[in-house]
Amino acid sequence: MSGAREALLRVAPGGVLGILGGGQLGRMLALAAAELGIESHIYCPDPASPAFQIAKQITCAPYEDEAALTAFAAGVDAITYEFENVPARTAAILSAAKPVQPTVHALETTADRLTEKTFIRSLGIGTAEFRAVDSHADLAGAVGVLGRPSVLKTRRFGYDGKGQTIIRPGHDLSESLDRMGGQPAILEAFVPFVAEVSVIAVRSDNGSVRTYDLVENEHHDHILDQSIVPSRLSALVEDQALSIAATIIAALDYVGVLAVEMFVTSDHTVLVNEIAPRVHNSGHWTQDACLVSQFENHVRAVCGWPLGSTERHSDAVMTNLIGDDINAWRALAAEPNAALHLYGKLEARTGRKMGHVTRISPRSR
Ligand SMILES: Nc1ncnc2c1ncn2[C@@H]1O[C@H](COP(=O)(O)OP(=O)(O)O)[C@@H](O)[C@H]1O
Ligand SMILES: [Mg+2]
Repeated sequence: MSGAREALLRVAPGGVLGILGGGQLGRMLALAAAELGIESHIYCPDPASPAFQIAKQITCAPYEDEAALTAFAAGVDAITYEFENVPARTAAILSAAKPVQPTVHALETTADRLTEKTFIRSLGIGTAEFRAVDSHADLAGAVGVLGRPSVLKTRRFGYDGKGQTIIRPGHDLSESLDRMGGQPAILEAFVPFVAEVSVIAVRSDNGSVRTYDLVENEHHDHILDQSIVPSRLSALVEDQALSIAATIIAALDYVGVLAVEMFVTSDHTVLVNEIAPRVHNSGHWTQDACLVSQFENHVRAVCGWPLGSTERHSDAVMTNLIGDDINAWRALAAEPNAALHLYGKLEARTGRKMGHVTRISPRSR
């Protein structure tokens, strides 16, 4: 299938890619686009967006501003985004004017944990057992089936562990449900995982798919701390995980980069936790350990270029710089085998992703 026909060219060198969202992901997408001679136009409601600092064209307006969206779409050749919560109406307005990749279909499937897990199961891929929870009666019934501990999550808008709570033995169910703030929720069986892993995959609209090597992820306080490549997991687990990601990206008829987060259990079972329809924090190591990064491959895919190599030339450990961690920038900059990436955020608030450092060593396997 790979290379069977050329992808449809949407943005040639000199053209303009529109990017919704002005955080660090939008910024790194725009930097990668610049490397290919493609200009970026960043659209974001936040005047302090880090991506605004490095793009020639910006629109600072709400995602609901139809006039601003229409003007934005008129000035670009294609549109992509850095976050999964693009409002449906925004996506519809933009899609009517210019190609938007990944498509609204991918956004809709992955925006809601219930739809997402149902879709993954329909492909014959494992997830934690789950039940929809819309009421106190639903929750009592679901805990009866899935037991404790179990994990209660809002169906939409969760990130970095926000909008979720673990139901442990003795915990009051009403209190747990109240924490969801009345939003539709899902209860998941607790997975006693031995490792959390992810796969970054990219697909072109000619159907060719490439995956980066399996990444092992460690979290602190629900925020990604480190991504380690190669992972310490077996080749068997890696093969399973890569093939799961390839199945998902093809089933979504997806164009661009997508991340699949997974759990690995002690018996080497791989269960999908969630899909991110965008470039992902656990793929930042590709900037320094691969010939073509996740950001460049996303730009290539959405612009209709041939995909670039996803091969890894080095071992890598990527560490996020959260909040005050950034104060160590000078020592990090002096490390011989470290690549430092700072996002230009002015205020180092607690829990805020300020940058990352990727430490490289010769490829071991
Ligand atoms: N069903 C589960 N069993 C065990 N741990 C879980 C489960 N769901 C989530 N977690 C833990 O919580 C973290 C955040 O959950 P996740 O579903 O990825 O939400 P977010 O969108 O906030 O990243 C996961 O990386 C994992 O460590
Ligand atoms: Mg997650």
